[in-house]
Amino acid sequence: MSEKLFCDVFEEPFPHLIAYNFYNDKELELIWEELKFYTKPGKFFTPREFGGVPDMTTHGAIQLDGVYRDDSNIQNGLNYRPISNILTVNRKVFNSGVLDEFAKIHESCWIAPLCDHDITKVRYYHDGESYDAHADKSFQFLAFSYFYREPKKFTGGELFFPRQNYELTCENNSTIIFPGWVKHGVKEVKIEDSAYYDGWGRYAITSFFTNTIKTVSTHGFRE
Ligand SMILES: [Fe+2]
Repeated sequence: MSEKLFCDVFEEPFPHLIAYNFYNDKELELIWEELKFYTKPGKFFTPREFGGVPDMTTHGAIQLDGVYRDDSNIQNGLNYRPISNILTVNRKVFNSGVLDEFAKIHESCWIAPLCDHDITKVRYYHDGESYDAHADKSFQFLAFSYFYREPKKFTGGELFFPRQNYELTCENNSTIIFPGWVKHGVKEVKIEDSAYYDGWGRYAITSFFTNTIKTVSTHGFRE
């Protein structure tokens, strides 16, 4: 049975889409299974290690593509991605039709469904953690999905956009899609009476997507 997804689309202050209850119960169970697995000592990396900007944030994260590599294109190589529930279910960003809806918001977004390369990071923000505003300028588009245990114990953690003086609350199981040129940050998360590994913080599964360069010649780029 096909599944109905509910989205809000906005052209201003920049093109963006918010999909609510993005993952179904079965997918959520798979996601939480993996989030709980990572929420233990020694699993989340520091910003310097996961490719974040060390001076701008302290939260822990894992770049899943680096752990579960697809080596099927090399001799005797295997594709390890199916081992990750998250890398498997988050294909929904690319095959559920939300990118087609996003593409209609503004002419500058039409190319989003054609992107052929993405990376996925799992992030965890606990008490006192934030991300200063920055632009992920190497990527054409970004899709951020949010998860937290209910009843919600933390405050803050909003996604903010300083150039537009705009912010979004990041509802549980919602996905926000917007262009890579939009400067964004995460407001400080505050939690009282919660140990880091109890898992009451703010989780995000973030997808960065763009196009691979197939061939580069000395005269420029070729398709
Ligand atoms: Fe970012």
